Amino acid sequence: MDKKFMGFFLVVVLLITSLAYAGKSRGELVYNGFCVVCHGATGKGDGYSSNALLPPPPDFSSKEYWVKVDPESLRRIIAEGEPDRQMQGFTDELSSEDIDAVLGYLFSFR
Ligand code: HEC
Repeated sequence: MDKKFMGFFLVVVLLITSLAYAGKSRGELVYNGFCVVCHGATGKGDGYSSNALLPPPPDFSSKEYWVKVDPESLRRIIAEGEPDRQMQGFTDELSSEDIDAVLGYLFSFR
């Protein structure tokens, strides 16, 4: 591939990715990148790999769910995971800001 074309190609790729990312919050991007496979696009716990999960992920869109949880412990679960469960911790993949952002995004499913 000649250099001019490579340059053009890169510009097009950058343009497309920035358009795709525009308007999405950081929390949503993190969620769609790391959580959606299990927790599902609307937070109901029906992501495409959720059938294999026991216990299944909770329903973040249910009002009852939010009555019994506190944000501190959810934050800890996202960072450290739940031992012996299929919810792994994300401290290695996500920064503290990303964890706050994705936690905020979980609240938006209510
Ligand atoms: C491999 C599948 C999988 C992925 C990926 C995953 N989770 Fe989970 N998650 C689960 C399962 C299963 C549970 C329920 C575990 C349990 O009940 O003990 C859970 C539980 C949780 C809980 C605790 C709910 C509660 O009330 O105990 C939170 C919060 C959570 N996940 C957030 C996230 C976030 C945020 C991400 C992405 C950064 C994520 N999860 C990625 C499977 C996953």
